Amino acid sequence: LLRRALADDFGVIACGGGALAREEAMSLARRRGLVVNLEASLPTLVQRLSDASNHPLLEGGKLETRLASLLAERRRCYGLADISVTTDRLSPMAAALAVREAMAGYVLPRYRWNCYPPQFAPVDSGWQEFMELGDRTHPVWVVPGQGFEHLPRLLDLTLPGKDLYVLGDGDVLDMYGRELASALTGRAHVIMPLPPGEAAKRFSDAPGLVQMLLDAGATRSSAVLAVGGGSALDAAGFTSSIFMRGIPAVYVPTTLLAAVDAAVGGKCAMDLPAAKNIPGTFRQPSGVYVPLEIIGESVKHPGLRDGVAELLKTCLLAGTRGSAAFKRFVRPDGRLYDSRLSEAIRYALEYKMSIVAADEREEGGERLALNLGHTFGHVVEAASGFRVSHGAAVGWGLVVAARMSVRLGLAPRRFAAEVERLASRGGFWPAPKVSLGNRAIGRLLLDKKRTGNKIRMVLMKGDGRPVTVCMPVEEAKKLMARSC
Ligand SMILES: NC(=O)c1ccc[n+]([C@@H]2O[C@H](COP(=O)([O-])OP(=O)(O)OC[C@H]3O[C@@H](n4cnc5c(N)ncnc54)[C@H](O)[C@@H]3O)[C@@H](O)[C@H]2O)c1
Repeated sequence: LLRRALADDFGVIACGGGALAREEAMSLARRRGLVVNLEASLPTLVQRLSDASNHPLLEGGKLETRLASLLAERRRCYGLADISVTTDRLSPMAAALAVREAMAGYVLPRYRWNCYPPQFAPVDSGWQEFMELGDRTHPVWVVPGQGFEHLPRLLDLTLPGKDLYVLGDGDVLDMYGRELASALTGRAHVIMPLPPGEAAKRFSDAPGLVQMLLDAGATRSSAVLAVGGGSALDAAGFTSSIFMRGIPAVYVPTTLLAAVDAAVGGKCAMDLPAAKNIPGTFRQPSGVYVPLEIIGESVKHPGLRDGVAELLKTCLLAGTRGSAAFKRFVRPDGRLYDSRLSEAIRYALEYKMSIVAADEREEGGERLALNLGHTFGHVVEAASGFRVSHGAAVGWGLVVAARMSVRLGLAPRRFAAEVERLASRGGFWPAPKVSLGNRAIGRLLLDKKRTGNKIRMVLMKGDGRPVTVCMPVEEAKKLMARSC
């Protein structure tokens, strides 16, 4: 049967574990194709097979013991496979992408060159995960090194053969445009600068961005490469999501905030003059590439540490040892420990990715928790005419949310005191001077979490214990005013 299946020139043959358990079969398969061994640990196998019936080889005796002895018998043969991929925590889609990636790095013996075109090569260091979202599953790479040297590999993997339209923050392109262009050598691309920072997100400019893509020659089979902070990713992501009903995009975040927050999750939004992030879409990127050294450079600018507030939010949400995690990443003077930047980004990304995987469109409640500190933060941003940055406003918002939680009897007093200490370590407390009259807080009426005259807010019962509270807007305004 195997010989017959292998007679075809191209295709994937999915075998059960027994088919290649003999050396003869394995060498036959290896002569005709590339053999990929999908591995899993014993506990995973036990879990996967615990309900299975009709496995004669596993009958008689304890499942775990039978499996262990089968594995021991077959280990030598399985070890002959060209590639092994560990699948314990992977969905079928993520496993397929992991296989593709592993194949990319495999140097094919010349006599078998036609089995697989070896145009990909994996990143040799750094962190790679998959944002698990069914058919929208995509890789997220946190890559050490000078900048964009591994980007072509991610583009080969995620946007093969596509011509690229680089929508990037103008100032970032001034700084890194040359390295970026050199990474894109050999690939059709057009570089298009966006206004730096929040100015990129003016909704009134959206038609101009779409027109710009069209004029530059983009078609339905093109793709966008979004480069910059959260603003550029939002603007480029939004534009890609509406251009000809949506073309794919890969994100390259260049600020800490963009790396730990904006780049994953698929929210793309623009700003109205009176309120941020009102026009928007959900559109997952095809891949995310976090250039660690560029982020490391960016956090040296005091104005570019907004991501520290999002990191604090993640630490508060992620578990019972959030304070300790935050202190491990952030020095007492508010700067990040250089040597722990990668760990901090991974910590925040892992948490956000797990939440997005569980509740992609903020329908189930899990993702709502990511808005901790944001309801009040948006009020401050708008009241200051956007002089107070998103991060500083969210940092302040975290303290207000903690105090509101105490006032409502949800959390003990010491919780709010600890959040205040952490916010002050991050440099967000004491709060910036912004006059918050009734009118400013009245902006809550524009909040997206409002339904009728009620608003949903995320508060905390303590470390790692977010809770959604729904209350009349008037009551929320009063409570907020007393807590800032
Ligand atoms: N879509 C989402 O899920 C999501 C999540 C969080 C925040 N956001 C949005 O992100 C935006 C804020 O993003 P941000 O904090 O990254 O700021 P930003 O994108 O507005 O950039 C701030 C400034 O930093 C500069 N900059 C960017 N990268 C740099 C670098 N490497 N070195 C030096 N300067 C650099 C920019 O030119 C700009 O002047 C807000 O609009 C917010 O709403 C979106």
